[in-house]
Amino acid sequence: MSPRAALALAASAGALAAVLGAARAADPPTPVYAQGAATFQANCAVCHGAAGAGVPALAPPLLSYPAHYAASKEGRRQLAMTVLYGLFGDILVDDKHYDFRMPDFARLDDATLAATLNFIVFDLGHAAAGVRPMEPGEIAAERALVVDGAAVREHRKNVAF
Ligand code: HEC
Repeated sequence: MSPRAALALAASAGALAAVLGAARAADPPTPVYAQGAATFQANCAVCHGAAGAGVPALAPPLLSYPAHYAASKEGRRQLAMTVLYGLFGDILVDDKHYDFRMPDFARLDDATLAATLNFIVFDLGHAAAGVRPMEPGEIAAERALVVDGAAVREHRKNVAF
C-alpha cells in the first residue's frame, strides 16, 4: 500500500470511529428496569413516544407526573389504576390539555405492570431519592377494584399537580 493510500485509510478509519463514537454518545442510557423498558416499547411507546415525551394533542408526556405520583399513596394507586383500567376525559399535563382515550392493560400481569411503571418513574422520570419502586402487590390490590377510565380520571384530581 502506498503511504498516501495508507494515510487515506487511516483518515477514513478515524472518521468512522468518530461517527461511531457520536452514535454511542447519543444512545439513551441502559435502563435500570430493562424488562419494564421492553414492555413500554412494545405497548406504550406507540402513543407516548419511545422516550416518554408524549405526542401533542394525543398522549401526555410521562417524564414528570408519574415520578411525582409515585411519591404518595394515592398517587401510587393512580399509577396502578391508569394501567389497569385506562384513562379518559380531559386532563391537564404541563399546562396542556389531553382528551383522548388511554386503553387498559389489565391483560399484563402484576409484575409486568409494576416493572413498566418503574421504568417510567425511575428511568424516564428520575424520581426523587427515597421514592420506593412499585410492587406487584400494589397492582394486585387495585385489580380488586374494577372501575372504568372515567373513575380513574376522577381519582386523578386527588394527585395531579
Ligand atoms: C392508544 C394510545 C395509548 C397507549 C398505547 C398508552 N397510553 Fe398512556 N395515555 C394515553 C392517553 C391519551 C392518556 C391521557 C388520557 C386522557 O386524555 O384522559 C394517557 C395517560 C397515561 C398516564 C397518566 C398520565 C397522568 O398525568 O395522569 C400514564 C401513567 C400512562 N398513560 C401510562 C401508559 C403506559 C404505562 C402504557 C403502556 C402499558 C400506556 N400509557 C399506553 C394514551 C395511550
